[in-house]
Amino acid sequence: MSEQQRQAPLADAMQAYAAGGALAFHTPGHKQGLGADPLLRKLITEEGLKQEVSLMAELDDLNHPEGCIKEAEQLAAELWGAEHAFFMVNGTTGAIHTMLMAALSPGDEVLVPRNAHRSIMGGIALAGARPIYMQPAVDEKLGIPMGVTTECVRGTISMYPSAKAVVVVYPTYYGVANDLEAIVSLAHEHGMTVLVDEAHGAHLKFSDKLPPDAIACGADLVAQSTHKTLGSMTQTSMLFLQGNRVEAERVRCTMSLLTSTSPNYLLMASLDIARYQMAKEGKLRVGRALWLSSLARSEVNGMDGLWCFGQEYMGGPGAKTLDTSKLTVQVSGMGLTGAEAEQILRWKYKLQCELADTKNVLFIISMADTEETADLLIRALRDFSCTERRGEAAPDVPLQLSEIPLMECTPREAMFRPSEAVSFEDAKGKIAAEEINFYPPGIPVIVPGERITGGILDYIRKTAELGIRVTGPQDTTLGTLRVLC
Ligand SMILES: Cc1ncc(COP(=O)(O)O)c(C=O)c1O
Repeated sequence: MSEQQRQAPLADAMQAYAAGGALAFHTPGHKQGLGADPLLRKLITEEGLKQEVSLMAELDDLNHPEGCIKEAEQLAAELWGAEHAFFMVNGTTGAIHTMLMAALSPGDEVLVPRNAHRSIMGGIALAGARPIYMQPAVDEKLGIPMGVTTECVRGTISMYPSAKAVVVVYPTYYGVANDLEAIVSLAHEHGMTVLVDEAHGAHLKFSDKLPPDAIACGADLVAQSTHKTLGSMTQTSMLFLQGNRVEAERVRCTMSLLTSTSPNYLLMASLDIARYQMAKEGKLRVGRALWLSSLARSEVNGMDGLWCFGQEYMGGPGAKTLDTSKLTVQVSGMGLTGAEAEQILRWKYKLQCELADTKNVLFIISMADTEETADLLIRALRDFSCTERRGEAAPDVPLQLSEIPLMECTPREAMFRPSEAVSFEDAKGKIAAEEINFYPPGIPVIVPGERITGGILDYIRKTAELGIRVTGPQDTTLGTLRVLC
């Protein structure tokens, strides 16, 4: 690690500006806290408000970095092993929009997992690209989608050899990693760019017990949520670039198009500081998180009615390795749904999980956790398993996936065309203007621009009758559906 990694150039420049004592006749209107309400002062602190500035030459410009922001980004690129890093203040959503718009042009075909996050669907609409969907593997026992298999990518590439890029979600929200290295080789052999949504993998770089990170696997552009598993503030992310399939200048211009001309310096400094923290002690902290999560996993697996899968469960379709810092605890063995367990854990035990689905609750053990927090989690789950059982496990309901419908127009065209709500039955034969997604498995049944058939309506009706939660439509009772006029 270079000696420069032990510095935080952007955070240092902000401190130096505040310490310089220049009297503020500039934005922001609170003037370094002078006019801030006491509530804001309590929230951000005196020092934070003093440093909440912008526009000064010595603080550089995110949209055209030449000074301390450039240095901070270069240090991030070095630490994560990329050639370029771009700081993002509009979350990984902003990073993903930038990645797709920089790599794709209107009309380009892009291979994309059907269960991709909405930011990917949004980026495809912004770019005007044509999505070619790939179904991810679904694990029946867990009730969740895994990754897209290498065979699925191979088959889709052979059907669409002129596609421009392949999007991979790596790892999944639940920490499941597919064989990204093999997918990258396949895509590159066919001249395709690999764009990775690594929102849940900013910490992968810091332990060889974790799946290899996307840059190490050879991906071209990688969007990472620094804020999700590392120490930066919510809304801050990084986009990494390597190789020459996409030009760094084009990425910068696209990012600038999508970014405020007044990005918040506290947010940007938090990225610089998160990188500095991980350079100093990332391996130690991530190593500790993995040790704590393995302790918690083996304890949970000794508890009645609970199950937490680990690396031993990997090897099936779309599941090569696991980020074991994610603890997916299956509670259906206690006769509870994940959502019910979430409520009990929140209000009786004062524990908030990351997410709950039909069968599971997901806990993240991050670089922030300590023996004490892990111990609290273990003790709460032990008491919960002893006292909260509601009945026997319900039998697994097989998760059937619907056929991917015919795309009549791109998501972008659908976005700009007028739409109307029609009765559920009348939607047959029309083109969807909204997405319909059941959770689980969280794979859209229909997305804007696709033709609604009788078979699709049957699938929607039957799935809704099973009581599975629907997301996407304006009318969640499904009495009406929005279609293109
Ligand atoms: C897989 C995935 N990609 C992208 C995002 C978007 O990240 P952000 O909330 O930072 O915009 C999320 C958010 O949950 C996500 O889960």
